[in-house]
Amino acid sequence: MATILDGKALAQKIKEELRDEIERLEEAVGRRPGLAVVLVGDDPASKIYVKNKERTCEELGIKSVGIRKPSSITQEELESIIDDLNGRDDIDGILVQLPIPEHLDSQKIINLISPLKDVDGFHPVNMGKVVLGLFDEGLMPCTPYGVIKIFEAYGIELQGKNAVMVGHSNIVGKPLANMMVNLNATVSVCHVYTRDLKSYTKEADILCVATGVPHLIKEDMVKEGAVVIDIGISRVNGKIVGDVDFEKVKGKVSAITPVPGGVGPMTIAMLMYNTVKAFKRREG
Ligand code: GUN
Repeated sequence: MATILDGKALAQKIKEELRDEIERLEEAVGRRPGLAVVLVGDDPASKIYVKNKERTCEELGIKSVGIRKPSSITQEELESIIDDLNGRDDIDGILVQLPIPEHLDSQKIINLISPLKDVDGFHPVNMGKVVLGLFDEGLMPCTPYGVIKIFEAYGIELQGKNAVMVGHSNIVGKPLANMMVNLNATVSVCHVYTRDLKSYTKEADILCVATGVPHLIKEDMVKEGAVVIDIGISRVNGKIVGDVDFEKVKGKVSAITPVPGGVGPMTIAMLMYNTVKAFKRREG
């Protein structure tokens, strides 16, 4: 029987620890951590993600500042919002919910966010720290960091293992692959241009999948006893599904994350963790 890696429960535990820590910090410092969430346009999925982030801030005692702008906003206007947030003493974390409309240059916006307040961990300075393995020094991207926390919580050892990352996005695939390299796994990165995906996935002791293709990974594509981390989330006929055919694959592997309730809740928990970390660094 596969171990179901319960990201929801782990996220809950991390959030409870953070809530206590925030209470202590507020007493010591005289203010709460502050997170600014910028939402441009009205993408329905983004709206739900942002609402979840703001609700979690409230639960934990983090001050949340929501900034909503229409998709007609100009690059200059958005840049000036970031400038303003960079300069605010009450704001420790800045997050621009992605994707933003096409006429805006998202990388340029990310580059403008102070690396000290970049709680998404998307700024090149923080990405550089991921590559260098400076886990404690920078702000690590939330979803990949959440996966590493799952490995730690369940005692899943990476050293010497064959790890396969399917998906090479800036948000998940590239940082997670680098984190696994830093834990001394032998890492292959596959993506939409990879020929014969199955020949890689079948060799994986640790298989991480972040493609957004529902049920891309079938039973015959995984190695017996593997650990499978599903970072995909799609809606098919009204049902939330991952990138892995969970029901079939779970009979063959040693551990697997469910969707929902696996990696997803960890992303928000790590965002809160990064906000508290940014606060502590700014307060010295
Ligand atoms: N869109 C999808 N995932 C993320 C994330 O982790 N952070 C931000 N800012 N936008 C996203």
